[in-house]
Amino acid sequence: MTGPRDRLPERPEPGDTLPASRPSPETLELLALRRSAPAAVLGEPGPGPEDLRDLLTLAFRVPDHRKLGPWRALTITGEARHALGDLFAEARRLADPGAGEAELNVEKRRPLRAPAIIAIISSPVHDDPKRTPVWEQELSAGAVCQTLLIAACAMGWAATWITEAPAYDPLVRKALGVGDQEKIAGFIYLGSAMEPLQERPRPDADQKVRPWTGRAD
Ligand SMILES: Cc1cc2nc3c(=O)[nH]c(=O)nc-3n(C[C@H](O)[C@H](O)[C@H](O)COP(=O)(O)O)c2cc1C
Repeated sequence: MTGPRDRLPERPEPGDTLPASRPSPETLELLALRRSAPAAVLGEPGPGPEDLRDLLTLAFRVPDHRKLGPWRALTITGEARHALGDLFAEARRLADPGAGEAELNVEKRRPLRAPAIIAIISSPVHDDPKRTPVWEQELSAGAVCQTLLIAACAMGWAATWITEAPAYDPLVRKALGVGDQEKIAGFIYLGSAMEPLQERPRPDADQKVRPWTGRAD
């Protein structure tokens, strides 16, 4: 064990009976108070290989229209973070020839902000809109990212969902093996919070919600 971690319940088999709801005040508290840790606040220790496996097992339990599994993940830890930093710097150098040493160093250090990174890649299985539209497959990848944040928090890790320019950079995409139809949904940075977090402004549900009364107005 490399840090805070709880064992998962035994994985259910397809067809096993599961409760339709599972009242959990602890889960409500987590959802009401969870927040992302800015990357600058993340530090050691981070999740080890077993933790990452558990986290992804949970994260992949997301709604997924027609059970396509239209996502995949890359784990990036240890020395590989340095290789990723070199890649980010090279990508920046090519995209922005005016970037100086200081800017390139910022890129190099990005992946070193956390002990572990999971890249979630949206990987649509087909682009036939009559079956599951790509949009729905991409939404499912977003659900993987969010579930990962929640699972990480419940296991005692701090985490944040970041894309930054590298997620869209052609050199980075190629070096990570991201195919033409694929997208990097996010880099989830994981570690331990080095300081307490502060609440950020949140939208008010009353401002965002209104009843639909039968016509658009
Ligand atoms: C798809 C996606 C990409 C994001 N990319 C970045 C990013 O590149 N840089 C950044 O500072 N925040 C980024 N964020 C926002 C962070 O995740 C931010 O910390 C988050 O909004 C905090 O929200 P929370 O406390 O509710 O988790 C991104 C969020 C999403 C959903």
